[in-house]
Formats: sequence, C-alpha cells, structure tokens
Amino acid sequence: MVDGTVARIGVVTVSDRASQGIYEDRGGPAIRDYLNEVLTSPWEEHSRLVPDDRIGLQETLMELADATGCCLIITTGGTGPAPRDVTPEATEGVCEKLLPGFGELMRQVSLQKVPTAILSRQTAGIRGGSLIINLPGQPRAIAECLDAVFAAIPFCIDLIGGPRLTTNEQRIVAFRPGQGGGA
Ligand code: MTE
Repeated sequence: MVDGTVARIGVVTVSDRASQGIYEDRGGPAIRDYLNEVLTSPWEEHSRLVPDDRIGLQETLMELADATGCCLIITTGGTGPAPRDVTPEATEGVCEKLLPGFGELMRQVSLQKVPTAILSRQTAGIRGGSLIINLPGQPRAIAECLDAVFAAIPFCIDLIGGPRLTTNEQRIVAFRPGQGGGA
C-alpha cells in the first residue's frame, strides 16, 4: 500500500470490571501511549472496552478486522487461567493463522520481570488483513511485551497487505529483511 496511508489500529481492553465501570481502564490508554511513542507513520485508534465474553469478543475482533479494516488489533487482558479469561480462545476462534512466536517471546521477556508471566496464554494471529496480538491486563506489561515483538510488526503488516508502518528508531528499529533492517 501507499506510504502515508493512515493505519487503523484496534485497541481492545477485555475486562469485566473495567467494562462495568468498577475500575478505570488503564490498559487501553497505555497501548495508545505506546503507539504514539513508537509509531512515526500516521495511525488512528479504534478503541473498544468489552467484558470477558468469548462470543462478544470474537464479534468485536471481527468487526475491527473486517468492517473497520484495522491492520493491527492489540488486546489487553483475559489471557490468564481464570474461568472468565477467554481472550486467547476468542483470538484463535477468529484467526486463520496463528503466530505462536509472539506469545512465546513475550512470555520469555515477561518472565524476567515476574514469575507469574507463565500464567499468561497470550498469543497472536492473522485474520484477513489484520494482525491480532494479545497482551496481559497488567498495564506495565504493555510496554514490556510490545518492546519484545514490535520490531517484527511492520514487516508482518507488509506481508498481509497493510499500510507501511514506520517507527521512532530511538525506541524500536523495525526489521524488514533485505532492507538492512531499517524502517
Ligand atoms: N507479564 C508482564 N510482563 N507483567 C505482568 O505483570 N502479569 C502476569 C502475566 N503476564 C504480568 C505478565 C499475570 S499475574 C497473569 S495472571 C497473566 O499475565 C494473565 O493476565 P491477564 O489475565 O490479565 O491477561
């Protein structure tokens, strides 16, 4: 796609309590702050705040991918072992391809911060022209996890026909094979 295309990015907070207004959503704003800091190409946020309900979350992911046309959808929350944690199942339920390396690497990096990182079942996958990535619900996990994988995200979005994402190289150097690794 042409440079300068505004990338639509879905930011999905999955939380029963935040969606009921019991506490403030801090995960969605943390993802927005991260993207504002890292992306230098134009993007617009499509945010959603939804309960931990598999069918409802699948509908939200499908709407953001298919109708809104998001090239990237980042979820936060619902990745753990509790009965209501169903974000990985909803992600797997709507994706045509899974990218398990994202979850593997994010868990590996997170384990250097907290031993409970092993409790996150976070994964990633492709639905049509969208890359969907799960993050844990803990706000401080957002930059820790995205820092681990972000270098590969722009090339992944190239491969699925999305807009060309560029990054602030002081923060993240996007790796594109055959282009010296620069953005
Ligand atoms: N990863 C990082 N980087 N930092 C964290 O604080 N919390 C862990 C884990 N991964 C955490 C983390 C905990 S305590 C849990 S229960 C799981 O993520 C799942 O969290 P979620 O259900 O909110 O997605």
